[in-house]
Amino acid sequence: MTDQKKPVEADTPPTFSGGFSTESAALSTSSDTPPAHRSAEWFGRAGKYGFIPRSWMKSQGFSAELFDGRPVIGICNTWSELTNCNRHLRELAEHVKRGVLMAGGFPLEFPVTSLGEPLMRPTTMMFRNLVAMDVEETIRANPIDGVVLLAGCDKTTPALLMGAASCDVPTILVSGGPMLNGRYQGRVLGSGTDVFNLDQEYRTGKISKADVEAAEAAMSRSAGSCMTMGTASTMALIAEAMGIGLPMNGTIPAPDSRRAVLAEEAGKRAVRLVEQDIRISKILTRDAFENAVKVAGAIGGSTNAVVHLLALAGRLGVKFTLADWDELGRDVPCLVDLKPSGRFLMEEFFDAGGLPVVMKRIADKLRLGAPVVEGGTMGERIAEARGWNDEVIRTVDNPLTPKGGLVVLRGNLAPDGAILKPSAATPRLMQHRGRAVVFKDAEDLRARIDDPDLDVDADSVLVLQNAGPRGYPGMPEVGTMALPKKLLAAGVTDMVRVSDARMSGTAFGTVVLHVAPESALGGPLALVKTGDMIVLDTAGRRIDVEIDAEEMARRRAAFVPPEPAYERGYGKLFIDHVQQADKGVDFDFLVGSSGTPPSKVSF
Ligand code: FES
Repeated sequence: MTDQKKPVEADTPPTFSGGFSTESAALSTSSDTPPAHRSAEWFGRAGKYGFIPRSWMKSQGFSAELFDGRPVIGICNTWSELTNCNRHLRELAEHVKRGVLMAGGFPLEFPVTSLGEPLMRPTTMMFRNLVAMDVEETIRANPIDGVVLLAGCDKTTPALLMGAASCDVPTILVSGGPMLNGRYQGRVLGSGTDVFNLDQEYRTGKISKADVEAAEAAMSRSAGSCMTMGTASTMALIAEAMGIGLPMNGTIPAPDSRRAVLAEEAGKRAVRLVEQDIRISKILTRDAFENAVKVAGAIGGSTNAVVHLLALAGRLGVKFTLADWDELGRDVPCLVDLKPSGRFLMEEFFDAGGLPVVMKRIADKLRLGAPVVEGGTMGERIAEARGWNDEVIRTVDNPLTPKGGLVVLRGNLAPDGAILKPSAATPRLMQHRGRAVVFKDAEDLRARIDDPDLDVDADSVLVLQNAGPRGYPGMPEVGTMALPKKLLAAGVTDMVRVSDARMSGTAFGTVVLHVAPESALGGPLALVKTGDMIVLDTAGRRIDVEIDAEEMARRRAAFVPPEPAYERGYGKLFIDHVQQADKGVDFDFLVGSSGTPPSKVSF
């Protein structure tokens, strides 16, 4: 006896044969006949193999009708009170559910580990891969036919996409949206970016402690992610640019009712994706990655997108390397005038027309045939876009900066690469030769940077070691390195800084990041000493230390690796398996996809 319209015959263990599809070109269904949903292997069977999943799920009050073979849409939620930026995602999930039900699907919300940027230590980046594993294994282990991913704070977006990619299920991403603009004493405050400004003002005595405390309350005044062009905004916009998020996914403010409508639409669309067997690998093709790099340049996006997209491409088997960031982004103008590179915030970007306007303005550089989740192509999506404020979204002949892409540097200091964000840098410092002032780790930096006796001047190059993927571990956002107090007081606003760390997407400065191989592995960065001369040649795409080969070899022979920070648990797993920045900081054993092959049952 069963509720199912089309029960799978016999009381035998499930034999579902759906799995990883390597088809990635055209957006078409795999065959003319609709595929049997994988959830039918749980809910569609006769006998105890169907009775048990149905009966126990019915304990939640689900009616028999929901088990009639309709697509099951998992709503993967990173809601958490430890992730303030995602605190509204349970409410947003309700709108997704309504959309799923409207389209004839069966929505099932599930939590995964969340990553709250402001609270987690040592750094959320250390846990991105853990969340990706959580997402991947939860999807694969359960009767889920397709997923709507609810993400917001920085690492939650790449983590969820990576996990879904390794299952290759139909997927759509809904971002939580940016917070409302911060407002304080007649001043507009941007997340992160103005923290750095306020901190420098406080450290130099320009504002009081009471002013800082009041600003804390005024900066983050609604649900949502940072409203500057930080990593969260960048990744939400990139998801939109890659076609895995709906139009305007990146910009609609979190409290705006139109975000709820977008969530409902995503729920409806997820059902269609399952019905048409349009898996994530059919959307996230090489074309999508090319568009992502170009859009990252045009929006002045966060440098963190580099490691996230490299890792995501690795999951999908898309040929995409660090060099692509430079080559594809080289001639893309930065059009979006948002902090930290510019003046405005996400609310203004949304009002000005959002990402479709940006993409339309650089359409000649894009892969317009790339498929998008709502059906059709990116070219069709952006064809009717209209801009409403050319101050916020500049025109191509009046860009914020003519070259918005990231620069990939190589040289004897970074044989496997490093990156620099020119739109956040001081132009005169991008060609620079200066004396290294070396800090052996982040604690050493914190202890000595404000020492009045520190031998440093405005032309020095600050070098930070042991802040890479294995060294810290987790590659934290400490690459910006606060400038020495005595130089700040003297009016210095920027210096060249070099490290194997990342930097916050809301930070700025002439900062060379992601140096690979990292210093903890004995990369050349580990061998630099205070007093060595460092040459940054951005035009020539080089970062070098003026040490001859013999001296370099002597120092290498004397190198002693730091003690690992973890002897057990996830920390040890991370240190033992994390790859370098040029490989996206993914675990070596997580690269690629396993699809959703049949698995054993335990009853
Ligand atoms: Fe969560 Fe910025 S801290 S998005």
